[in-house]
Amino acid sequence: MVVHASGELLAAAAAARLITALVDAQAEHGVASVVLTGGRTGIGVLEQVRRSPARDAVDWSNVDVYWGDERFLPDGDPERNETQAREALLDHVPVDPERVHPMAPSDGRFGADAEAAAAHYAEVLATKASPATDIAVPRFDVLLLGVGEEGHTASLFPDTPYVKEVERTVVGVHDCPKPPPTRISLTLPAIRAASEVWLMTTGAAKAEPVAAALAGAQPVDIPAAGARGRNKTLWLLDAAAASELPTGG
Ligand code: 6PG
Repeated sequence: MVVHASGELLAAAAAARLITALVDAQAEHGVASVVLTGGRTGIGVLEQVRRSPARDAVDWSNVDVYWGDERFLPDGDPERNETQAREALLDHVPVDPERVHPMAPSDGRFGADAEAAAAHYAEVLATKASPATDIAVPRFDVLLLGVGEEGHTASLFPDTPYVKEVERTVVGVHDCPKPPPTRISLTLPAIRAASEVWLMTTGAAKAEPVAAALAGAQPVDIPAAGARGRNKTLWLLDAAAASELPTGG
């Protein structure tokens, strides 16, 4: 776990860390892959990547971009995670459009059918599945997540069937307490296939779920507690989000 003095520092430091991780993954595999998150903290990190002079150390044409969750809204809606990620970063770096894999919008080929959109995304992931993982998802070098006030991560909310999913890699999610109510999300088994999972969150409202997750809460109660990477699980917090942790953090 790393605790930064402020949310601004967290965003800048996480951006530096992400650039380095992508550069390192490209040195090892040629192509790097990242799974993006929605939310203010996650988008703030992408903005800091855009602002960093070191961003050009990444060969953006060889980065596979996926999303951990999406708000099921029309294409281009300003609340879509895809729209926000494009504005914050992807529109400003030379990514290969073929390597950018957004989840479907609610006015696309699946219309308002979130299950069909989720099943399609599962197929996209399966098509690129890596032999390194035992479920049908690609090699994810870094999977970014935010954390909600009641402990949700991606669009997996407490006490829902979605957080308990063990078969599917992607689900349509309904009746979400955080708007919009309909979303698409990777499941915990898909998240856990990532090499590195970074949970990034800021602000006092996140202090309780962070403390509960790190104390070993059950994922059904605090979904963020169930998010971990195969090789690394990294919590990136600001001081306020870390304020309920036992002394010494
Ligand atoms: C979303 C998310 C969600 C988010 C958290 C934290 O699309 O809403 O992916 O899981 O990351 O709710 O959001 P904030 O950083 O804005 O608090």
